[in-house]
Amino acid sequence: MKIAIIGAGNVGTSLGSGWTKSGHTISYGVRNPQDAKFSELRTLLPEAVITTNAAAAQDAEVIVLCTPWGGTEAAVRDCGSLAGKIVIDATNPLKADITGLSCGFDTSAGEQVAQWAVGAQVFKAMNQVGASQMDHPVFKGPSKPVMFVAGEGDRKGKVLQLVAELGFESIDVGGLEYARLLEPLAMLWIHLAVFKGQGSDFAFGLLRK
Ligand SMILES: NC(=O)c1ccc[n+]([C@@H]2O[C@H](COP(=O)([O-])OP(=O)(O)OC[C@H]3O[C@@H](n4cnc5c(N)ncnc54)[C@H](OP(=O)(O)O)[C@@H]3O)[C@@H](O)[C@H]2O)c1
Repeated sequence: MKIAIIGAGNVGTSLGSGWTKSGHTISYGVRNPQDAKFSELRTLLPEAVITTNAAAAQDAEVIVLCTPWGGTEAAVRDCGSLAGKIVIDATNPLKADITGLSCGFDTSAGEQVAQWAVGAQVFKAMNQVGASQMDHPVFKGPSKPVMFVAGEGDRKGKVLQLVAELGFESIDVGGLEYARLLEPLAMLWIHLAVFKGQGSDFAFGLLRK
């Protein structure tokens, strides 16, 4: 599958690495493809194309948003029309000091993205764990880490599959409005990691009898 990753930072690099291992074709959408700062990424993922947001998005079936929340609207607009595409929104609408979210309860970043990405099937996923745990994470314990997926559309199965390929138990939580639960869940992960001494080597999982 052709996957365009918009934003080549921590999350974008980890997801690109993970999906390359699964045989997908990765292109990165960035603001300045010639920037020398991408040399490390070019060495890590030599097969990946680094180009503009528009070029990456128009050539891909799946667009994954990995930008800081404040830059996400501009990034989506730079992609051009996303009608008919699958969009996976991995962003979290963090306040600048990462002590909370800048929206919630009656909307979410995921729903906001759906308003900008007119005609796309938008899913919230890959926002609930640290970037370092997104590429085939291995944990002690009886189960795989869980990754919840919110959003509706006939291609949800493909999104659940892409998430599972990274090493997660992918769980369908329903429509995109459930991003209102998944973004605070990410906030809990950040709170535990940054302020409560858990570090970043953990993820949430489901235990069943
Ligand atoms: N880090 C985590 O552990 C984690 C986990 C889950 C979810 N998230 C969420 O995922 C998103 C990305 O986080 P991150 O840690 O990967 O951030 P990051 O390392 O700062 O990377 C974000 C990247 O997006 C780029 N960018 C900004 N505006 C852009 C635009 N208009 N077009 C293309 N690229 C653009 C930035 O480029 P410049 O460097 O040139 O500004 C940067 O390379 C955030 O919303 C975050 O809340 C993060």
